[in-house]
Amino acid sequence: CGIVGIVGKREVGTLLVDALKRLEYRGYDSAGIATINNGELGRRRAEGKLVNLETRLADEPLAGTVGIGHTRWATHGAPTERNAHPHFCHGVAVVHNGIIENFAVLRAELTAKGAEFHSQTDTEVVAQLLAAYRSEGLAAREAMHKALSRLEGAYALAVLFEDQPDMILGARSGPPLAVGHGEGEMFLGSDAIALAPFTDKITYLDDGDWAVVTRESLEIYDHSGALVERQSQISRGTAYVVDKGNHRHFMEKEIHEQAEVVSHTLSNYIDFAEGKVRLDTGQLDFANLDRLAMSACGTAYYAGLIGKYWFERFARLPVEIDVASEFRYREMPLTGRMAAMFISQSGETADTLASLRYCRDHSLPIGAVVNVRESTIARESDAVFPTLAGPEIGVASTKAFTCQLSVLAALSMIAGRERGTLSPEDESVMVQALVEAPRLFNEVIRDIEPQIETLSRELARFKDVLYLGRGTNFPLALEGALKLKEISYIHAEGYAAGELKHGPIALIDENMPVIVIAPHDRHFEKTMSNMQEVAARGGQIILITDEKGAEAAPLETMATITLPVVHEIVAPILHALPVQLVAYHTAVFMGTDVDQPRNLAKSVTVE
Ligand code: G6P
Repeated sequence: CGIVGIVGKREVGTLLVDALKRLEYRGYDSAGIATINNGELGRRRAEGKLVNLETRLADEPLAGTVGIGHTRWATHGAPTERNAHPHFCHGVAVVHNGIIENFAVLRAELTAKGAEFHSQTDTEVVAQLLAAYRSEGLAAREAMHKALSRLEGAYALAVLFEDQPDMILGARSGPPLAVGHGEGEMFLGSDAIALAPFTDKITYLDDGDWAVVTRESLEIYDHSGALVERQSQISRGTAYVVDKGNHRHFMEKEIHEQAEVVSHTLSNYIDFAEGKVRLDTGQLDFANLDRLAMSACGTAYYAGLIGKYWFERFARLPVEIDVASEFRYREMPLTGRMAAMFISQSGETADTLASLRYCRDHSLPIGAVVNVRESTIARESDAVFPTLAGPEIGVASTKAFTCQLSVLAALSMIAGRERGTLSPEDESVMVQALVEAPRLFNEVIRDIEPQIETLSRELARFKDVLYLGRGTNFPLALEGALKLKEISYIHAEGYAAGELKHGPIALIDENMPVIVIAPHDRHFEKTMSNMQEVAARGGQIILITDEKGAEAAPLETMATITLPVVHEIVAPILHALPVQLVAYHTAVFMGTDVDQPRNLAKSVTVE
């Protein structure tokens, strides 16, 4: 979910909605705003996308210079208007991002005292609890402090009290919360990008902090209630313009700008003139490590899986990798000389952050590959390796993925150099290959996009698709399947090509196209054998390969998508393009909501 608050000097209704638009990547199941006008709380809420709230507000505007807003990704309770935030209770209004884990206990306790609940959300207990403390005679701040001490779980909150019309209270335990400083007005938001139109001067709350925000002042308290100082900073998020340009979707724009952002990212890590990787690995002493632990979610996890192949091959460094929701609870023994690496576009994913904290509690040096420089994961890491992808808006990650791969490539190369397993000659060949990569992006898109557009019309007929690959093409197969299912809703699975015979082969028939990702690398022959096994059972094959592979491929395919021959360090970065374009065009052809697919959110700050 995304939250926003404004203690303004002008009408805030449309400003709140504008800020919510920049937070819609966090959820879009329902939205709402509340303001205080002439000493009275008012609100408008609507199911579905923000545009529904906008329409509602056009018919029934909401006046007031103080307000809070919310865009929801449902956890507790269906995405109905009744469950939409803000939640009200006797002069208290609350918006919330996160999960109140002990909400059932609190709800029972409050109900026993006569409280009546109006929604199925966990959030409403916060409003009810605050109202209960106020009715016992506590002042707003005391009620806030006391209520927070009762809450378990994860939350970012913004709260209005009807009888305190010149202030907003905010609190953070888990999901991020930023305060923006204006001239005679102040702002609260889930991130700096939401506040970018208003101000670039930002103060981030630390975990456990809560804040009292008025037009002229900001007071921050820690969980014990002690007044604390938090430095403000000038956010870089404001420099970015978030618009689609001439593209139909953000996803299309983001696929097409990969040449630029990958080039930008690589130049941060590579000295092209010297033919060397140039980066400061800080506390990650690769030369003396026995093992690297990696963890991430979704697409970032697949980038990490490819990174594992690279670290092990070029640096002979064993890598343990797991999805963060498993990693955080499996209590991996962190023995020997280890470091940890986390990968996250947003830098806020709850499971990834919890995995990071597990490793930090065990005193491991922590590295992070993140796209949002001011994010919590970036701030809690010892060494930050930024991807310079710019804001990624499409829920399905594309350019962040190829930038993550670019950074991991550079990291694995420097680890190889430091561990003496990658010769200067090999490093220089790989650098040269990476230098060439961005230019190839545009050529490849130009060459393959029309073919993929036609192919996607065919793919749209099917209910299931299988993706196969070996080596680094295996995580790409997983990523291909993820992309297709999340935006076209066609069921898809990614498999290691060698595992085909251990199960999925039972599914192969003419109704199950198989997308084989196989450039002409050292696994090519093996993958071709697996492809034969598919063909022998009537499966339809779409082959994504390079020019050498296309020549050597032993059989007819439904389509062959041919890329230039590149070095193995570039291959997954380049082959990500057809994988992304197949998903994109299939979804466009099927008419789904490409940038905001159902049930998903871009940044997931709950477990
Ligand atoms: C969500 C997004 C994915 C993303 C994943 C991890 O599921 O929809 O696109 O890969 O979270 O996000 P992160 O910000 O940690 O990379």
